[in-house]
Amino acid sequence: MSKTIIISNRLPLQISIKDNKLEVSPSVGGLATGLKSFHKDGDSVWIGWPGITKEEIPDELLDEVQTKAKEENCVAVNLTSEEIDGFYYGFSNRTIWPLFHYFMEYTESKEEYWQSYKKVNQKYADEILRHYEEGDVIWVHDYQLLLVPNMIREQQPEAVIGFFNHIPFPSYEVFRTLPWRDEVLKGVLGADLIGFHTYDYERHFLSSVSRILRYQVDFNEITLPDRMVKVDSFPMGIDYKKFEQAALDHFESTSEDQSELQRRLNHHLESTPDAKLILSIDRLDYSKGIAHRIRAYEYFLDRNPEYIEKVRLVMLAVPSRSNVPQYRRLKREIDELVGRINGKFSTVSWTPIWYFYRSMPFENLIDLYTTCEIALLTPIRDGMNLVAKEYIATRTDHTGVLILSEMAGAAHEMNEALIINPNNFEQVTEALKTAFDMPREEQIERNKMMQKRLRRYSVEKWAQDFMKSLRMTKENRDSFKSI
Ligand code: ADP
Ligand code: G6P
Repeated sequence: MSKTIIISNRLPLQISIKDNKLEVSPSVGGLATGLKSFHKDGDSVWIGWPGITKEEIPDELLDEVQTKAKEENCVAVNLTSEEIDGFYYGFSNRTIWPLFHYFMEYTESKEEYWQSYKKVNQKYADEILRHYEEGDVIWVHDYQLLLVPNMIREQQPEAVIGFFNHIPFPSYEVFRTLPWRDEVLKGVLGADLIGFHTYDYERHFLSSVSRILRYQVDFNEITLPDRMVKVDSFPMGIDYKKFEQAALDHFESTSEDQSELQRRLNHHLESTPDAKLILSIDRLDYSKGIAHRIRAYEYFLDRNPEYIEKVRLVMLAVPSRSNVPQYRRLKREIDELVGRINGKFSTVSWTPIWYFYRSMPFENLIDLYTTCEIALLTPIRDGMNLVAKEYIATRTDHTGVLILSEMAGAAHEMNEALIINPNNFEQVTEALKTAFDMPREEQIERNKMMQKRLRRYSVEKWAQDFMKSLRMTKENRDSFKSI
């Protein structure tokens, strides 16, 4: 029976070693959390990296890593620390990530990173080919594996290959600065169907293909010498029912079942009934605009002192890519900013920011989503931002206000949120005031509309649409050949 082979750099499970034993935890990040529900329900095998280098795994536990992965229909690709340095921390996260998020000043173009990227992409492609059987559908994910589609095509010219990019695709003027732009585009074009979260990313990709490779582009189809490639946008959704149900369960739980975090949040609500909690959750990444957000919050408190003791920013930053200098620098910057602002505004009974730098269990995430009346998500660039969608899905009584950056892919589908430009502190300030005072009826009206849309276009539907379109592309390819 044919199957779907999902391939991404990171598996949905993260393996670590403690006291010479394997520990398994869920991976953080939109790709892993979103795609997990599609994988769970279907007949697929997922190939990827389990988040630990080969050297960190004691020899006697190597087989167990594979067994743990297999329990979840996954295959672990073992990468050495040298490969992780060059391919993951290097080309993926010091070249492509900053460039595609328009942080050109952070972009490093080192030949050694590129060589490592090519080598590791080939390693992933070889792993797919080991599992591939005729009739299988191959679905490659994200910017770490841009060369994989063509590497498979070279070995299996008839294979059905889809590629989905989970991050923005930059405008031609930015993309053209990449020294290996031709190779990267040709790598992706090994796919039959290429998907993006938004129409803008799709458009940027098509214009790069036509201007750099000079291939003919008609609407959203690219004509290669031997076949056609289709490009389309599919905004990724969330497992809506999972978040909705988790929120309903949360409200039904007794006070003994409550987490320590929830108790602290309740204490805050009871002691300051007219105050509001503002939530922000992100991986600690410069693209998320965390430092901007804290500065905008300072600007807001400076100019509106009547909100002192009336609001609190609950900020969760999940550690991410800490071997990359920009991430370490950002961590220091945020530590300093939080310290300074808490020092500047705190009173004996109130601190303006509660800052958590860690990953939290799912239950705590739900505590935060359901308790905080306002969510402030201000990325400077973000492919999608699933946190925004998860927040709305958990608001089962339809209250709550989402303030969302226009730079997030999610903003295209969430017009009823308060949409802001994260670089405009005055606008963020106004949005915070509007959110604080927004009548309950208006909150309900806005959220119901977003909920309806998110429920309908769930991650399941997203994957189905992509797969359907991929199969159609393959059928068209066959009929094209028979003409
Ligand atoms: P990105 O993919 O860039 O990290 P998204 O907002 O699209 O950004 O996705 C982040 C995902 O990670 C969400 O599904 C969210 O639920 C999950 N997540 C965020 N913070 C945590 C955390 N502390 N613990 C577990 N999962 C988290
Ligand atoms: C984003 C990317 C994913 C990545 C995730 C977490 O969502 O699109 O490909 O897995 O961030 O980043 P990490 O580097 O920890 O895998």
